[in-house]
Amino acid sequence: MMSFVPSTEELLLLTAVDFQQMEEFARRPLVIERAEGLFLWDAAGKRYFDAIGGIFVAVLGHRHPRVMEAMRRQMERITFAPPLHSIADVTLEFIAKLGAITPANLNYVKPFSGGSEAVEAAFKFTRQFFKQIAQPARYKVVSRYHGYHGGTFGAMAASGTGPRKTPFEPQMPGFLKVPPPTYYRDRFSDWEECNRFAARAFEDVILNEDPSTVAAIIVEPIGNTGGIVTPTDEYFRILRQIADRYGVMLIFDEIITGFAKTGSMFAAETFGTTPDIMCLGKGISSGAIPLAAMAARQEMGDAFLGRPEQQLQFMHGHTYAGNPLACAAGIAVMDEIVEKRLWEKAARLGAYLRPKLEALSRHGVVREVRGKGILLGVELTDPKIGTALKTTAIDNGVILRVDPGWFAVSPPLIAEESDLDEMCALIEKSLVQAIEQA
Ligand SMILES: Cc1ncc(COP(=O)(O)O)c(C=O)c1O
Repeated sequence: MMSFVPSTEELLLLTAVDFQQMEEFARRPLVIERAEGLFLWDAAGKRYFDAIGGIFVAVLGHRHPRVMEAMRRQMERITFAPPLHSIADVTLEFIAKLGAITPANLNYVKPFSGGSEAVEAAFKFTRQFFKQIAQPARYKVVSRYHGYHGGTFGAMAASGTGPRKTPFEPQMPGFLKVPPPTYYRDRFSDWEECNRFAARAFEDVILNEDPSTVAAIIVEPIGNTGGIVTPTDEYFRILRQIADRYGVMLIFDEIITGFAKTGSMFAAETFGTTPDIMCLGKGISSGAIPLAAMAARQEMGDAFLGRPEQQLQFMHGHTYAGNPLACAAGIAVMDEIVEKRLWEKAARLGAYLRPKLEALSRHGVVREVRGKGILLGVELTDPKIGTALKTTAIDNGVILRVDPGWFAVSPPLIAEESDLDEMCALIEKSLVQAIEQA
């Protein structure tokens, strides 16, 4: 038993907040006590405008009444069905609903509890799929530098953000990278041409590795950790052609871009390219409860069916995956988005917000505004300003994703134009103070 009552600062040194230097965090902790809609409140009662929807999670805002009610109703029925030998009815309903809203025939769905789980599953599913269709040599995955696919070992190996990887080297073998288009942009006067070059880099890697050993390409349609990297539509068309040419699976990590933010239900539709597998998470439960999913082409799923004696099965699972309470939340989120056609609202709000963010260039520190719909990022001319912005934004009661060469916003889709005015005023005030301090 604990014989002393630790202070918040002492307790914080007994844990780790994601990617935070804990002594620094403990000196200025952000301890959240309550959330509703567009806002969070800390333990001292201070209100924060959640301009990033948790962290690209709360697409319907925090504690959306429809999601809360669905979970309450589900709690009266069943909150856990043993996944080793059963499946809950509500989990089946979730699978059907998700399969129905994914593009094309991506209706082979396996639910999970977090984005990294969905990415790991996509890799395992792809490798096993190729073994089952008599192409066992295919195991390599090509992804992008500056990308992020999760914290577990396979997802980390596919990620291309140095500081999040180097402490854990050596990485898993078989994971190869190409730079994102933003990496090359200063070498091209034309952004379209830059994207063509960056897309063809995937082909160069595949050819040099021996195409018969490559299983998948994985990309975030809009890359967050790289600074809201937003390729052209053609970039994705080229990736699709390369994947088809060499029989490689194209995986879209839509863990951030999914669920209406980019102006379509999924960024695959926004960019006009259908992948073979999508990884989903974050917005899928609007933050009400851990939930994620992998959705693959139905023919890929068919490769896992057979006669009992063949023992064909996807050799993968997690105890809490497909949890009934989480699936009830996911169904409510999908119903709300579909009924209200919230992707259209995302496009409308994005068209309102984007010029406001672009107008911040009057302060002389904005290099570029990128993104689609309501998922937008502002690249700064100097990371020192971003470092100061991390503090001034919190002081002014607005939560952004600051990295520090850029900052991103993705406000919940319950926001109205007047809310975005309030958000932008807080951002501008924080940016001006950051410029003074930097
Ligand atoms: C694009 C992307 N993929 C995967 C993940 C991993 O998801 P999780 O943190 O839920 O494991 C994240 C998390 O930030 C992400 O942004």
